[in-house]
Amino acid sequence: MDGIDPDFEGRVLVVANRLPMTIKPKDDGEFEYSISSGGLVAGMKGLAKVVDFKWFGWPGIEVHRNDKDKVRLHLADNFNAVPIFLSNDLAEKHYNGFSNSILWPLLHRMPEKAGSETDWSKAYQEVNEIFADNILPYVEDNDMIWVHDYHLLLLPGILRDRLKKKKNLKIGFFLHTPFPTEDYFTILPFREEICKSLLMCDVVGFHTNQYAKDFLDSARIVLPGVARSPMDLHWAGRRVLVHGFPLGIEADEWREKLETEAAQSELASIQQQFKGQKILLGVDRLDYIKGIPQKLQAFDRFLTEHPEWVGKVVLIQLAIPTRADVDTYRVLREEVEQLVGRVNGKHATFKYTPVHYLYRSIKPDLLSALYAAADVCVISSVRDGLNLVSYEYVACQGKKKGVMMMSNYVGAMKTLPPSSMVVFNPWDTLRFAEKINQALNMGEEEREKRYKEIMKIVDTWTSAKWGKIFLETMMEGEIPKNVGMPDRDPLEEWQSDVPDSETGKVEP
Ligand code: ADP
Ligand code: G6P
Repeated sequence: MDGIDPDFEGRVLVVANRLPMTIKPKDDGEFEYSISSGGLVAGMKGLAKVVDFKWFGWPGIEVHRNDKDKVRLHLADNFNAVPIFLSNDLAEKHYNGFSNSILWPLLHRMPEKAGSETDWSKAYQEVNEIFADNILPYVEDNDMIWVHDYHLLLLPGILRDRLKKKKNLKIGFFLHTPFPTEDYFTILPFREEICKSLLMCDVVGFHTNQYAKDFLDSARIVLPGVARSPMDLHWAGRRVLVHGFPLGIEADEWREKLETEAAQSELASIQQQFKGQKILLGVDRLDYIKGIPQKLQAFDRFLTEHPEWVGKVVLIQLAIPTRADVDTYRVLREEVEQLVGRVNGKHATFKYTPVHYLYRSIKPDLLSALYAAADVCVISSVRDGLNLVSYEYVACQGKKKGVMMMSNYVGAMKTLPPSSMVVFNPWDTLRFAEKINQALNMGEEEREKRYKEIMKIVDTWTSAKWGKIFLETMMEGEIPKNVGMPDRDPLEEWQSDVPDSETGKVEP
């Protein structure tokens, strides 16, 4: 893919709480650098194909002052990244506290999972300020600053305020989670400040147009004087483009990964171990948004209702450790592990274990082999911004042409063709169980047809394309006609959602 507009004279600065690598101290006083997991980091790898960018983020641990230069140098030389150091106490309140115990559950419409401590809000503000302090010395005229995700919602506003003297500075924001409807958004602390900050951007992007629409609605309710036309907002003399820009993956890279010797050897050993059995696969961070208990309950129900499958199908559930210091995540782990024990206790025999549960992070070659070996991928999230695992599964299914089972509540339902997936409601255990039966019994011809339809989208709407379109929208100040998928242009979907009275351009 070509790079971004060659006439662009500035530089791209990407800011996200999570750096592409996570740092751990080793016994010998050195540091170990491993790839961070999650859709944000995976998506940004595609951006690197179209533009060089500097990445600012938190290294994930407190680094002693004597080691800071060493870490800084290593990140600059190897990853073109700039660490933003935070004390343990501040990071705990910002990351585990405000970001992951308040914002994350509310953005996913789960207020019952939210907690609150008085000093989390202060820490959130302080960390957003610290990010700004660290970025300012790097910014020059004509630069584009692209801020990512819910940990840094106040940052665009702070940067705009402190960088008034820079010429032609563009600021963009992309949210990797859903945006809630206004009744959930208005529960949020800082809701006014969040809207004001995002309105200091040139472009605000979401995975789907539905989330963009929900943001526009919330902004109008929270901030008097906000006017809206189909794709932009006008406020205090500013025009802000707001739209869905669905992320994607680099499918070629997954196919290449799968062809490596390491992946092929993993694949052969999985096929040998599960010979004569079908494989259902779940790959999720161990997060309550992912609907892992619902998946286990449906699998249990399926085996109960369809005893003919006992011994002939397994569920491999990979649970990637995440945010383990947050209480709700600890509770979820206990719940999931109890359920795994219960399902296995109920249906296992000496020769057969129905659920294979792995609580760990695995290497990409093993992941690609698991994707390739699975007959069905089960995405059971009760809310999910987009879900890249579904894309990665399809990319690795060139030979098998397996079935994609997709919960109704996932952003990818708006980007991948629903008619090519087995769609279900994760809360309806009985029907979910029947959908598993349907997926397992699907004939080859039907699977092939569906695979091709999904693959066409996965191959076209890559993460490189996503990054290029977003940056070009910032540069040009206009949203290109088709930004999401060839068959269902979200722009059309969007316009049909807006009442006639609102489709005319509104003057600021
Ligand atoms: P989320 O962003 O909520 O975690 P996604 O499905 O969008 O959900 O993205 C998960 C990403 O994490 C995928 O790209 C997947 O390949 C990646 N991933 C899974 N396991 C690992 C791992 N062990 N190390 C690094 N990335 C991983
Ligand atoms: C989601 C969020 C990302 C986050 C990722 C992994 O994809 O949108 O911002 O990086 O999960 O979570 P973590 O807490 O490990 O960064």
